[in-house]
Amino acid sequence: MGTYLLPAEPITSIDQYLATDVGGAGVEAAMRLGPAATIDAITESGLRGRGGGGFPTGRKWAGIAAQTGSRRYLVVNGAEGEPGTFKDRALLRANPYQVVEGLIVAAFAVGAVEAYVGIKGSFEREIEAFTRAVQEFQTAGICTDCTVNIVAGPDEYLFGEEKAMLEVIEGKPPLPRWFPPYEHGLFAASPQEGWEAGPHGPDRRTDEPNPTLVNNIETLANVAPILVHGTDWFRSMGTAESPGNVIVTVVGDVIAPDVGEIELGTPLGATIDAVGSGVAQGRSVKAVFSGVANPVVTGAQLDTPVSYEGFAAIGSGMGSAGFVVYDDTACMVDTAYQLSRFLAIESCGQCPPCKLGSGEITTHLERIQTGVGTDDDIARIGGWLERVTDGSRCFLATEEQRLVSSVLRAFPEEFAAHIEQRSCPQERPRPMPKLVDLADGRATYDETFWRKRPDWTYEPE
Ligand SMILES: Cc1cc2nc3c(=O)[nH]c(=O)nc-3n(C[C@H](O)[C@H](O)[C@H](O)COP(=O)(O)O)c2cc1C
Ligand code: SF4
Repeated sequence: MGTYLLPAEPITSIDQYLATDVGGAGVEAAMRLGPAATIDAITESGLRGRGGGGFPTGRKWAGIAAQTGSRRYLVVNGAEGEPGTFKDRALLRANPYQVVEGLIVAAFAVGAVEAYVGIKGSFEREIEAFTRAVQEFQTAGICTDCTVNIVAGPDEYLFGEEKAMLEVIEGKPPLPRWFPPYEHGLFAASPQEGWEAGPHGPDRRTDEPNPTLVNNIETLANVAPILVHGTDWFRSMGTAESPGNVIVTVVGDVIAPDVGEIELGTPLGATIDAVGSGVAQGRSVKAVFSGVANPVVTGAQLDTPVSYEGFAAIGSGMGSAGFVVYDDTACMVDTAYQLSRFLAIESCGQCPPCKLGSGEITTHLERIQTGVGTDDDIARIGGWLERVTDGSRCFLATEEQRLVSSVLRAFPEEFAAHIEQRSCPQERPRPMPKLVDLADGRATYDETFWRKRPDWTYEPE
């Protein structure tokens, strides 16, 4: 199987990139085809968004192109806030040029007047790589008339949520707005809803929705190869419903945590072995979490194909293919507590049931985990799981509901053991899998997470 996203060696200059079979040829193909046929090609390829939801990319582009209004925008999502995920940073380190080329094609296809790229301010190396790649494209005369704005965003998880990313680009905190970007795009005002638009030049219109296309970094890296090699080539990899390759992250209880490009449809167990070198000798996989957005996958489900439909078939989701592996010595109560705490802290509080509910669920999980829990704690968690999504304006509350309820369902005996025998199988605590770096078989996790308070301030060290 070939790889087309992660090169064997990093590409560090535009000349090196233009010497590849894809470099520059993607933009050329798009110019030759024109916007409509470019969108058709992406639609026919079956490419699906790699940001987590798996939405068909061509359909999204066609929807934006079909919207009325004189201004459309492109937003590139490089927030990579999902725990257990490092693939966008790996891609920007290995080949930022292919992402920029996808950006140019996407902006051309939907008629975007400007592109904004949201990358966390703490990802200094990736911002530098992306900025350099854009400048080299401009110097090479490939996107002389395109405006690309790189926005260094906050560390909050919600920065990656598309409706919150638009707010950040407009200069506000990462609080998701109500309507999706295709209905309420960048710098569009809706005074009747109590919104203000950010300032954006003298000719800014305030009476149009400014439909905005939001795509993930990795999604865009697929675009030039598809246009250059063709949709049949793309569909020859992966599965019918999930064509192509995907960059997976494998961390947690594995021998060598890493990022790797695999063909969609590869079984999860084989993926953990191929990318993360498997679990330690004598150990077995107890559970795998694809980030914090989806139900747990148990060790009995390792045959599940890494594909959108494969994970859906077992009631879970592939997410952004960041897999956190727990071996048979891990405690699932502690894991549920940690991941629930992450979501509770990161919840923005605009929808009270989300903030209050995820906080309460976390408190009761902590009580059970520390050995003071009773059946009443389980009952209270159950009650909040029913209500936590009430009136929610983004998917975070649903993530809490899906994740915690799945662990309760899959590992009831571990909760019972904590409550009845006050016993826990765990010999050493696992880190919260929010990644700061991943290189040379070593994962570095964000220790500041434990000091972060529900109001997004930090306990002093
Ligand atoms: C709480 C939350 C956090 C998210 N974080 C990210 C992120 O860090 N990066 C990303 O690309 N998408 C993230 N998403 C998904 C985006 O909202 C959006 O669906 C995606 O950027 C669309 O791009 P795609 O169609 O190319 O996948 C997040 C969604 C939610 C609900
Ligand atoms: S669902 Fe939660 S995280 Fe999302 S907007 Fe509402 S309070 Fe904020």
